Amino acid sequence: MPRTPQQIQELRAKVAQIQSWYHRIDLGDGVETPGHFRMTDYLAHYHFPARLDGMRVLDVGASTGFFAYEFERRGAAEVVAVELPSWGDHDWTPRYRREFEQKSSGEKQNIDREVMRDGFAIVGEAYGSTRVRRIWKAIYDLRASELGQFDIVFSGAMLMHVRDPILGIQRMRECCKDDGRLIVSISTTMPDAQEPIARFVGEWNQCNWWQMSPRALDDVLKCCDFDRIENRATYTLQDVTGQFHDPTYVCHALPRRG
Ligand SMILES: C[S@@+](CC[C@H](N)C(=O)[O-])C[C@H]1O[C@@H](n2cnc3c(N)ncnc32)[C@H](O)[C@@H]1O
Repeated sequence: MPRTPQQIQELRAKVAQIQSWYHRIDLGDGVETPGHFRMTDYLAHYHFPARLDGMRVLDVGASTGFFAYEFERRGAAEVVAVELPSWGDHDWTPRYRREFEQKSSGEKQNIDREVMRDGFAIVGEAYGSTRVRRIWKAIYDLRASELGQFDIVFSGAMLMHVRDPILGIQRMRECCKDDGRLIVSISTTMPDAQEPIARFVGEWNQCNWWQMSPRALDDVLKCCDFDRIENRATYTLQDVTGQFHDPTYVCHALPRRG
């Protein structure tokens, strides 16, 4: 049903309440979330199937939800979007954690609301979404015994934020059907390196740990019970200002069977 002018105004007001949008998402009627990254411009590099009818999809590190809702739009029967329960649950350094813990509980709640929670919900409401649900978990806690297995497991631009990306990939493999696929994107400072290099990029006040070369990610995937790597692509992710540039590697990994 088309939105009334009042509904459009209300939607604009809700969107404006969030200061920290990650994704720039077109909500229709001229309303766009003011996020940093317009991922529609890069979708072709991900080689997602055009249709996902009947499929279960797991989106790990969903942020403000561009990909989760894109999977629903492509017909997925169920999309489970994984996000950390709170900002404090990132793999922070001890020093950042000590400083963060000194913030008031009001300040912390505000960060969680603004950065981790409300944006995703506003997009879902605007789309009239019915097949996307969010769960609050770290990648390390994804267990097939609880969530079942998925036809597609997706992790976009998040493995550099985890201290142990190999355990993260093992958990995603556990949640991937044997005939399913894991689709991963990573930012990489070494898009052209032929060697399997992982570079430590940690800083005390950032939650960034490892940048892998494409070959390193391929090799890690093979050590985590994936057999074939397909649809390898590299592209440069830019923010909407064009000032931020992030070389990005995307690939599909198919589980080793049996
Ligand atoms: C850079 S954003 C990427 C958003 C989206 N996947 C994309 O590709 O545009 C990374 C997301 O991963 C989440 N994240 C970071 N560490 C995580 C962890 N250990 N477990 C689950 N999610 C995590 C962050 O909260 C954030 O929403």
